[in-house]
Amino acid sequence: MSDVLAWPAGRRITVRDLQAATDRGERWSMLTSYDALTAGVFEQAGVRALLVGDTSAEMVLGYPDTLPVTMDQMVSMVAAVVRGTRTALVVADLPFGSYQAGPEIALANAVRHLKEGGAQAVKLEGGRRVLPQVTALVQAGIPVMGHLGLTPQSVNVLGGVRRVQGRGDAGEELLADALALERAGAFAVVLESVPAGLGHRVSEALRIPTVGIGAGPGCDAQIMVWADMAGLTAGRLPRFVKRYADLRAALLEAAGRYVADVAAGSYPDAAHSYA
Ligand code: KIV
Repeated sequence: MSDVLAWPAGRRITVRDLQAATDRGERWSMLTSYDALTAGVFEQAGVRALLVGDTSAEMVLGYPDTLPVTMDQMVSMVAAVVRGTRTALVVADLPFGSYQAGPEIALANAVRHLKEGGAQAVKLEGGRRVLPQVTALVQAGIPVMGHLGLTPQSVNVLGGVRRVQGRGDAGEELLADALALERAGAFAVVLESVPAGLGHRVSEALRIPTVGIGAGPGCDAQIMVWADMAGLTAGRLPRFVKRYADLRAALLEAAGRYVADVAAGSYPDAAHSYA
């Protein structure tokens, strides 16, 4: 089947479209996005689903980890990404503290993401420990994406977010979590920072798509934090990050030339001034 027939052009992609792509063996991609401008670009490039991740705490708001971002902040970024797109499925992250206390608060906050933000799905971290929340959301008609392996909202018990998860016996636990999420009705599961063999094994065991980030090539789909993918973030990045551009250098160079032009009086020139 051709790509044109397989993916809808005139409407938003749904979780059923993602499942259908996985069923026909097509690998699809996700990126994070936190604003209308980048969301539109990524959609145009063929990214099928966008995650308004709680990495916005770090990438947009400048915090050292994902914990501080609030529901209000998330909802306004979700709404911007929805406004900037026509066809991409928009998944809204439930931030730290917005679902851990139980199904009721999880449902209230997920409803905000759909009603106020316009998202089509939500994501939360954890496996069997959040099953009551997943069940409540699914029963309310809200598509849920799970997130296993390295779960950055648990940074304080994990002792950092650079550690590979799921080695040894932990791999069996992760597989059990993934199967439990699928049984509870999750439509996909993110696998973050796990050995490639485990990513492959979980993907073979599940019918729903696995979305890998540092989980090897055996996953059904891949996701990256967009600023990592585009080379905007500085410093040492995890092994799984591949930089597809050097946006940091390009921006630095552009901004530097602008500063120099202003200082020299060569911007604005006649061509950029009104008569
Ligand atoms: O918040 C986020 O961006 C994420 C991805 C890293 C999967 O959860």
